[in-house]
Amino acid sequence: MRVRSLISVADLTPEELRGLLALASRVKSEPERYRSRLSGKSLGLIFEKSSTRTRVSFEVGMFQLGGQGLFLSNRDLQLGRGETISDTAQVLSRYVDGIMARTFAHQTVVDLARYGTIPVINGLTDDLHPCQALADFFTLTEVFGDLMGRKLAYVGDGNNVVHSLMITAPMLGMDIAVATPEGYEPNPVYVEKARSGAVEAGTKIELMNDPAAAVDGASAVYTDVWASMGQEEEAALRLEAFKGYRVDASLMSKALPEAVFLHCLPCHRGEEVSAEVADGPQSRIFDEAENRLHAQKALLLWLLAGESL
Ligand code: CP
Ligand code: NVA
Repeated sequence: MRVRSLISVADLTPEELRGLLALASRVKSEPERYRSRLSGKSLGLIFEKSSTRTRVSFEVGMFQLGGQGLFLSNRDLQLGRGETISDTAQVLSRYVDGIMARTFAHQTVVDLARYGTIPVINGLTDDLHPCQALADFFTLTEVFGDLMGRKLAYVGDGNNVVHSLMITAPMLGMDIAVATPEGYEPNPVYVEKARSGAVEAGTKIELMNDPAAAVDGASAVYTDVWASMGQEEEAALRLEAFKGYRVDASLMSKALPEAVFLHCLPCHRGEEVSAEVADGPQSRIFDEAENRLHAQKALLLWLLAGESL
């Protein structure tokens, strides 16, 4: 049987995605039921970049399911001293039952899955952040129920987070509008992938430079940092380029009255989002962060314990 991994949400069928979100809901409401499902199982957590939510939610999630998470910093692993990805993947496959990896190059996660014999979970690369998208759409289904026909607006940088949102939205019947400054559009490779999903699903994907047009009619407004991990040197330049792309109360007022605000976090109040919005009544950022735990527990149950979806 083919070992399943989650490198991109596109690795799932729309039915599997819906099944995972439904499982996440059961895991959240009845955590006791799943308490020892991963007893005796270990998940290796490889981090080349910093993390609060991803690290803690995976470690705690494994613990709550009766298993163990092993934090493996790139600074301590031999991988950081030049051991190959292929050898690392093959050796870890002899010890642990799954690998979660947060890396710079997307290819590193692809190669871990290619050379290993166990499930690999993408915990963020320069290209994608699929676990974030699972939690985000889980949060939206909690707020709105079925997402079919609703619109998600993303305002800001065309980065890993929006790539995963664009791929996932059509799978749940959602339209997505993305407003970025010129020169900061999402990567055309992922736009193409998302567009073909949207054609299949009959949903809309719009790329534009006007934040107000993007949020018009939206049920959710999403933003992320202007400089992602690895882009620290561009931060000052980006601060200038993204002027006018802050999600503030005036922009939120152009979305539907029931619209919620989402952010993967960490956020910078006063840059990509005003404090008034991040901490205001429409904000769901902390539910969203909590839902990383429940959505990933569902993912772990499916990948490591064969829970059916
Ligand atoms: N949203 C997210 O992935 O957060 P961390 O970088 O803290 O893991
Ligand atoms: N786009 C951000 C997301 C952090 C969770 C980054 O890659 O740094």
